[in-house]
Amino acid sequence: MTSSIDRNTATAASPVFDLKAYLKQYQQQVEAALEQSIAVVYPEKIYESMRYSLLAGGKRLRPILCLASCELAGGSIAMAMPTACALEMIHTMSLIHDDLPAMDNDDYRRGQLTNHKVYGEDVAILAGDGLLAYAFEFIATQTQMVSPDRVLRVIGHLGRAVGAAGLVGGQIVDLESEGKTDVSLDTLNFIHRHKTGALLEASVLCGALLAGATESDLQRLSTYAQDIGLAFQIIDDVLDITATQEELGKTAGKDLQAQKVTYPSIWGIEESKRQANQLVEAAKAALDPYGDRAQPLKALADYITARRN
Ligand code: IPE
Ligand code: IPE
Ligand code: MG
Ligand code: MG
Ligand code: MG
Repeated sequence: MTSSIDRNTATAASPVFDLKAYLKQYQQQVEAALEQSIAVVYPEKIYESMRYSLLAGGKRLRPILCLASCELAGGSIAMAMPTACALEMIHTMSLIHDDLPAMDNDDYRRGQLTNHKVYGEDVAILAGDGLLAYAFEFIATQTQMVSPDRVLRVIGHLGRAVGAAGLVGGQIVDLESEGKTDVSLDTLNFIHRHKTGALLEASVLCGALLAGATESDLQRLSTYAQDIGLAFQIIDDVLDITATQEELGKTAGKDLQAQKVTYPSIWGIEESKRQANQLVEAAKAALDPYGDRAQPLKALADYITARRN
């Protein structure tokens, strides 16, 4: 526990937060927990396919947001780790399905062939289903040191964020909007806030819910999370144009090819970056009342616009 003297010194000196070291440390913990989360048993093929995509790297941003938010709200990493893993399982499901020929039809993901390219479409669909269901089982059976009412709230919130009211709703409007030239900014915002924003918001809120955050904490964290959620997808769209396949680990230039409506397609690259930066500043400002305690979440917000993949 931090002593009051340490705290005073930290406030006076306000040390620069080392995001690189923080990400490395938290990524390692998440990788270790994910590695342990799924064993390969009969029927092996489905577990191998689930593990192939889940353990292929990735930034692990959603689990880390969940852990950081739980800590900000006074909880521990141990309380939030099963939910953090579940978030990555759900995110990975969404990537496997997003890459299918019937959706974005992508051959590469996280620097390797997509799930359906290796295992076939039939197995890839089932691997997504398996990860989605297991995520909820994992929270329900593995969470410790948290009261059942909090766990229930997390499960309810997460279910809503992933379903038709969230991620699935965003994905369907994304697909419906392909090839259209008259998509409004409102519709684009709906797509981004749902297909990507909903799970990012859930990552932050579920961490805080596990720690028993107050309603006013949840309100502030929700503002933060909605802003970084939109900024995250704006930058994903920018990187699709400006980054290379090597940097991204997925094929670049896909949005233009698939005639997706994106922020850059409406505003151009520079204005899109400016808007993402503005959202990140607003997100950080929402956490000002927490002082230095919010340093990890604020640095993670900056990472969203600074990243190259
Ligand atoms: C990619 O998410 C899909 C979007 C929601 C834009 P990430 O950029 O977080 O992908 P990984 O997890 O690091 O591979
Ligand atoms: C993906 O959006 C959103 C989800 C996977 C839910 P994109 O289709 O832009 O993601 P990438 O660019 O393929 O990672
Ligand atoms: Mg897509
Ligand atoms: Mg895609
Ligand atoms: Mg994209």
